[in-house]
Amino acid sequence: MIQVKHLRFAYPGGVEVLIDVSFGVGKGESCAVIGPSGCGKTTLLYLIAGLLPLQEGNIRVNGAAITRGNIPMILQDYGLFPWKTVWENVAMGLILKHIPRREIEERITPILDELGLAPFVAFYPSQLSGGQRQRVAIARVLAMNPSLILMDEPFSSLDAMTREHLQRLLAQIWIRHQITFIIVTHSIEEATFLGKKIIVLSRRPARIQAIVDNPRAGDPAYRSSNAFFETSSRLRDTLFSISQDPTP
Ligand SMILES: Nc1ncnc2c1ncn2[C@@H]1O[C@H](COP(=O)(O)OP(=O)(O)OP(=O)(O)O)[C@@H](O)[C@H]1O
Ligand SMILES: [Mg+2]
Repeated sequence: MIQVKHLRFAYPGGVEVLIDVSFGVGKGESCAVIGPSGCGKTTLLYLIAGLLPLQEGNIRVNGAAITRGNIPMILQDYGLFPWKTVWENVAMGLILKHIPRREIEERITPILDELGLAPFVAFYPSQLSGGQRQRVAIARVLAMNPSLILMDEPFSSLDAMTREHLQRLLAQIWIRHQITFIIVTHSIEEATFLGKKIIVLSRRPARIQAIVDNPRAGDPAYRSSNAFFETSSRLRDTLFSISQDPTP
């Protein structure tokens, strides 16, 4: 589904961010990206979304070159319109495409149900908790029926319980709808729970430090298993070895 090959990127002014980053993500697969703060995770996501211009290397999504704005992205701050209700926020993309209201209703009602948002359709974002807002952001993207979703630390501002709940919900959605996900996270446990493939980036300029296959990702029983603990420990060791690395 996604092929990233020999990506190299520097911001104007010479800040080198990515060096020779290559990886692939299969259709319906979830991929977690983890690495030290400032190493280039968000930059990598923006490149895949076509929001930053490619410099060296290439990215193909479904065999085609990326086009700007085609791939939905979910950010930490939800990006909701405060003056629109939950229903209007979720329906927004479809309204802009001039889809008839009845069809919009048919498409988004099951999504609102699945995400537990049905009781809140008439609420405004300011009347919702952080977890509810993040669910609205997810619903809005799902309404567009995407095959690929990019997420940049979507749950980092939420409390531990809400975060775990949303991780489960996301895993269910990804399995049920066969959507490909790339999720950037700071959390080792989040990467272990959500990433069938976990990409560990080194410090900036980021290279691929490790790619960990994690076949049980998304299985609710995995979180309390020894295998989960072992994968998380391995990730922690890898990340710790990076942060001890004396190179700048
Ligand atoms: N627009 C920009 N212009 C110049 N440098 C930038 C720009 N955006 C980011 N950088 C630099 O590029 C590097 C990577 O930034 P990026 O936001 O991709 O890191 P990150 O891994 O997402 O960090 P964090 O984990 O803190 O979110 C940082 O050193 C940052 O200072
Ligand atoms: Mg970032």
